[in-house]
Amino acid sequence: MLTSKLPRVGTTIFTRMSALASQNKALNLSQGFPDFDAPEALLDAMARHVLAGHNQYAPMPGVRELREQIAQQLGRHRAINCDPESEITVVPGATEGIFCAVTACVRPGDEVIVFDPCYDCYEPAIELAGGRAIHIALDEHNFSIDWETVAAHISPRTRLIMINSPHNPSGSTLSREDLLQLQALCEQHDLLVISDEVYEYLVFDDREHHSVLQFPGLRQRSFALFSFGKTFSVTGWKTGYCIAPPALTSEFRKVHQFVTFVAVTPVQMALADFMREDPDYPATLAAFYQRKRDLFCNALQTSRFSLTPSAGTYFQLLDYSAISTAADTQLCEDWTQRHAIASIPISIFYHAAPQQSYLRFCFAKSDEVLLEAAEILCKI
Ligand SMILES: Cc1ncc(COP(=O)(O)O)c(C=O)c1O
Repeated sequence: MLTSKLPRVGTTIFTRMSALASQNKALNLSQGFPDFDAPEALLDAMARHVLAGHNQYAPMPGVRELREQIAQQLGRHRAINCDPESEITVVPGATEGIFCAVTACVRPGDEVIVFDPCYDCYEPAIELAGGRAIHIALDEHNFSIDWETVAAHISPRTRLIMINSPHNPSGSTLSREDLLQLQALCEQHDLLVISDEVYEYLVFDDREHHSVLQFPGLRQRSFALFSFGKTFSVTGWKTGYCIAPPALTSEFRKVHQFVTFVAVTPVQMALADFMREDPDYPATLAAFYQRKRDLFCNALQTSRFSLTPSAGTYFQLLDYSAISTAADTQLCEDWTQRHAIASIPISIFYHAAPQQSYLRFCFAKSDEVLLEAAEILCKI
């Protein structure tokens, strides 16, 4: 009856692992969301706006006050100027924003460069637009980009490069030098960029986040995507935003208005209130999550895993090569059932996974859960 347009796509690993974790009453460090609540003032603001009757459609590009707060936040934390009217669009989650940006850019036959391990929503969007993902593997050990390899993969059909920093699942970050290399290639070949920066505030050990918005040559050709879910611990509110120059924003909004039209009104109003009242909140996140990362990593010192502390995101990779030679997918399921601990195998983020033995653990969890998880892992 219907030939699938996405024959290789099944239920996502996040859904499968979370279901398996709950069946086995396992500690769930698989899916990326906090097990603690958002700041109370934000939750109160949400309840207030719902009860005040702010429950009808918002303006298509987003509640004006929220777009103004986003512009203020960018100025305050990154020294970036941005026009709320023509450059900021609020979206129901970065996932929707990525889909709209890809749909606005990619035509049948276009090639899009993505880096593996690659967040799972990129390729389906590219394929539905008739494009082809060109997969380039990040360095197997430190997950950096080899820009000479990227240059060698650019063809007359290349339309777009998609980057993600801080990077899920590896926890690596792109340097200023990386963005300069990207800028040079994009200028030389006239390419567009989608930059997934949803973990922008989660960078550790005094690293700086480098946004495409800070590089003039990239700013004019990029869609940058952000997620309030990650920054304010409300992943279930599915709200984020896209920043792009006016001409790109105009094309982005043409798609967005027919995919979802708007993001949720009281969520937007609550976020605007919270950002106005506590503008320095995002700057507290790096220390907060770095302490959790360190708690988890230190508690694993007597384990048989090896690890490099994550540079960003709330994910930590653990190398299990001293413990098992099994495939990571099999091991994940096995350990969820036998040891009651759930993680994510990173091979699923690859088009062609190399011989690796990494599992991804989310450390956006209470200290008790992290210590309990480490205790289990130390016994494996
Ligand atoms: C790299 C990356 N991009 C995008 C998203 C999606 O963000 P949102 O929940 O705002 O759609 C996630 C969520 O886990 C992510 O890890």
